[in-house]
Amino acid sequence: MIGIYRDYESMSRAGADLFADISLQAIKERGVFCTALSGGTTPRLAYSMLASEPLRSMVAWDKVQVFWGDERCVPLGSPMSNEGMARETLLSRVPLKESNIHPIRCAQSPEKSAAEYGTELTDFFAGDPVFDLVLLGLGENGHTASLFPGSPALQEKKHFTASVFASGVYRVTITSRVINRARHAVFLVSGVSKARILKEVIEGGYEPNRLPAQLIKPVGELHWLADSEAASLLEKTKKSVSGGS
Ligand code: 6PG
Repeated sequence: MIGIYRDYESMSRAGADLFADISLQAIKERGVFCTALSGGTTPRLAYSMLASEPLRSMVAWDKVQVFWGDERCVPLGSPMSNEGMARETLLSRVPLKESNIHPIRCAQSPEKSAAEYGTELTDFFAGDPVFDLVLLGLGENGHTASLFPGSPALQEKKHFTASVFASGVYRVTITSRVINRARHAVFLVSGVSKARILKEVIEGGYEPNRLPAQLIKPVGELHWLADSEAASLLEKTKKSVSGGS
């Protein structure tokens, strides 16, 4: 499903609403909501909206378990830290216990850190991880989480996590095997700089080695939320725009 929204704010509002709705459904059905957060800059506003009323009171934060889809191996205080960004915009502002937060920590080598996070996922889910919601972004080169074009991590079908070196930094990422077992995978895509790649990923031929975001085909629902700038080059997709500014 592709939702096209007038601007960044209305796309963020739709993303935050979807997070809250999926959490309500998961908690009603299974008593817990497990999510993997994305990093980068795009989700900042959606996270802030979740930390503000009315959504803050809609989500049963004591039943939320927070993981990450990927992390850059940088200190927590670095502006590049995905954990740091999520703590600043969301996690420090809602009643979520520290024991419900499962960050990717690069305390050891990237390889060992990836293996350790894989073990944490296996232990928590008692087997293959099944997230209720994996939030994702789209890089201008077609990457998502830290699944970058041409990376060996794209071929990783056995393990839940992988370490990669990309854009000048070591990273740990969950693999497409994990993302594709999710009940919902939600991409948030904003800005004219993403227009060309969004068109290639959604409307172009299947080239996952060059366009890793195409690997994401969850057993559950796939949602693309884009603002009108990011969606401006789409031709084959229905383009009704929703959301006020
Ligand atoms: C990361 C990400 C990454 C991100 C995209 C989009 O840690 O780098 O999780 O996959 O979502 O690069 O980033 P922006 O939202 O900053 O454009």
